[in-house]
Amino acid sequence: MSHAEDHEGTRRDFLYYATAGAGAVTAGAAVWPLVNQMNPSADVKALASIRVDVADVAPGTQITVKWLGKPVFIRRRTEEEIQMARDVALSDLADTGAENANKPGADASDENRSLDESGEWLVMMGVCTHLGCVPLGDGAGDFNGWFCPCHGSHYDTSGRIRKGPAPKNLPVPVAEFVDETTIKLG
Ligand code: FES
Repeated sequence: MSHAEDHEGTRRDFLYYATAGAGAVTAGAAVWPLVNQMNPSADVKALASIRVDVADVAPGTQITVKWLGKPVFIRRRTEEEIQMARDVALSDLADTGAENANKPGADASDENRSLDESGEWLVMMGVCTHLGCVPLGDGAGDFNGWFCPCHGSHYDTSGRIRKGPAPKNLPVPVAEFVDETTIKLG
């Protein structure tokens, strides 16, 4: 591996931590409001939701943030990845539910899983629905999405389970864009 590739891999795979309601998630991330220690409800609120600056996430890459003790994948998909996800018939899916907390009861079409209408942004819990391992990303597995090496579960470019023992699509947490480059989780 060349030095350049090594650097790229390190940057891409860097795990951003956001813990205990304080601290910027990425360089240049929105400054967190100071939590008044006398106000427990504000403290709980800060723990339950975080803001992630995605300005530096290039198409075809993803970051992983830690939220409520679990990894969350935030991927900026390429046109090709979006097209692959949108070309899949619902009848080809093992789990036909969107598993999207923002759209309860919706079907698993890619439009119901991506964060924005164009489908560029995909936000999912990075926890395999089989036994909870963290799947590998960046086009891994037979469906160019994510692959869980623990027992061989393959997820597509929409994070939907396509092969292996995992029963469900990777869940999409409550998330929204609060400005052009900031995603709020929770
Ligand atoms: S935990 Fe992912 S396949 Fe078993």
